[in-house]
Amino acid sequence: MRARLGSSLAANDSAALATALETTARLVPDPSWTSWATFARTGANAARRGDMAGARAACKGCHDAYRAEYREKHRLRPVPPG
Ligand code: HEC
Repeated sequence: MRARLGSSLAANDSAALATALETTARLVPDPSWTSWATFARTGANAARRGDMAGARAACKGCHDAYRAEYREKHRLRPVPPG
């Protein structure tokens, strides 16, 4: 996650960020996490518009919603770098 999402955000590369977020959207780790793909796709759409602040908001939204639980349940399954 840091490798793809973090670096494209740092590089201000909105096209790479949009692609990485689309990949994230397909990697729902738990079928009950219904807003996962929505966060990722909202971020991808924002990135495509060049709206990096909007993309960043999607990062935060998903992290606030799922990061802690992900660490508890899927510690051994890191998000693949896409
Ligand atoms: C759809 C959900 C989701 C979105 C969107 C998302 N993240 Fe994450 N992110 C996670 C989860 C879950 C973890 C915890 C994974 C772990 O600890 O292995 C995480 C962890 C991270 C970490 C720390 C762990 C690592 O792999 O280095 C970084 C950095 C990070 N995300 C950056 C970003 C950035 C930047 C964005 C937006 C461009 C973003 N994330 C968008 C779900 C998401």
